[in-house]
Amino acid sequence: MVIARPAPSRVAGERTTAARWEERVMRAAHPVAYPLLCGVRRPVLRVPGLGTVVTDAALLRAVLLDTAAFAKQGPGSPSELWTPVLGPRVLLNMEGAEHAGLRRRLAPLFTPAAVGELVDRTLGEPFAALGARLAAGDTVELVAEARRHASAVISTLVGLPPEVVDDRLFRRIATVTGAVRLSRPRMTTAQVRHARAVMAELTAHAADAWRRGDRSTVPGRMRELGLDEAESLGAVGAFVLTGTETLVAYLPRLVCLLADSGWLERLAADPDRVPLDAAIAEGLRVTTPSPVMLRSTVREARIGDVVVRPGERIVLATFLADRIAPGFDPVGNPAASLRQLWFGAGAHFCLGAPLAMAQIRGFVGALLDAAEQRPLAVRSRRVARGVLIPGYRSVHVGPAVRGAA
Ligand code: HEM
Repeated sequence: MVIARPAPSRVAGERTTAARWEERVMRAAHPVAYPLLCGVRRPVLRVPGLGTVVTDAALLRAVLLDTAAFAKQGPGSPSELWTPVLGPRVLLNMEGAEHAGLRRRLAPLFTPAAVGELVDRTLGEPFAALGARLAAGDTVELVAEARRHASAVISTLVGLPPEVVDDRLFRRIATVTGAVRLSRPRMTTAQVRHARAVMAELTAHAADAWRRGDRSTVPGRMRELGLDEAESLGAVGAFVLTGTETLVAYLPRLVCLLADSGWLERLAADPDRVPLDAAIAEGLRVTTPSPVMLRSTVREARIGDVVVRPGERIVLATFLADRIAPGFDPVGNPAASLRQLWFGAGAHFCLGAPLAMAQIRGFVGALLDAAEQRPLAVRSRRVARGVLIPGYRSVHVGPAVRGAA
């Protein structure tokens, strides 16, 4: 079946509904840093108080691949932020052979077969229930739904009882991540104390998986590597941090993008869902759920025409680098040329990417199955304020009202 591209419903310069909402989401999360970074019109620019900002996709990728010059350890890097809370061995603050060794050990948990099985087992029923409710005419709040799903998967992965990662814990985690600001490379002593207390609530329950040496979980695999209990439980915190908020923020944003651009209806009408993967990739490009990555310079290097010296902080503005085309275009699929830059590149490329993709496909698939039976629309939404990962606070999706704009 040939899919028609939605008619461009605007005159030059006019913003689409989708673009207007995306802008609101970004501004609500980062009212200071977002406009500041958007003002950077050059591929590389030193911004006082922030660091050297990189906005060009090729240069950004080159920084990620040059691990001799740029690291996740050192001044202004993620380790400065997270090591005091999570401990020193949680992947996102490691480098070199130790980092590669831990990734190798965890890799079997993230193969397409392993994540497919994990998602089927934990989310098969919830996806079916979501589709059935929407098809029956219920209105569903998608942020809470995505949160329940992410929680079920991550709990199984890190060996937590499913009831531990509940809404209350999500709110507690948001008080930790929400305090992170681009202009503050470190947490204050009080913030570290609070963050540790939140992580302790979480990891207390994962200790069993470590003690049992359960190979189907992250802490069990870390134990095999000889990492002690505290180190392994730090990684549990890191997986919950990296593997929930991004996904919970992305899923409702993607659904809003699809609805705002007319693609929800089009994909639902196509029995083969031809450009679904392209729509998901375009959604990831347009939203860039993890908008910025950080590195510290460890050896003098050149990024474009800017020379950076050891100790300098590099702010990789992925959300700007991903803006290689205006709008959301699953047919032209400009996202394809970016080689999943929204998941990073090189040694630290998102370990959970296959898991994220399996969850995204399942979630959107359930929604489209329902939309095939009954046209759906976003009935109401609210953006989230003061969060690290931009997103909606709530998105209600329900039956489309005939004749509504
Ligand atoms: C849409 C969802 C997601 C996005 C956009 C995303 C994005 C990213 C990005 C950009 C990085 C690299 C950061 C850097 O190089 O500084 C990363 C790393 C990572 N992600 Fe994801 N992520 C997502 C979902 C997940 C999930 C579901 C999990 C796990 C369950 C996960 C686990 C990780 C881990 C463990 C790392 C650190 C890898 C390392 O340092 O070696 N992510 N993610």
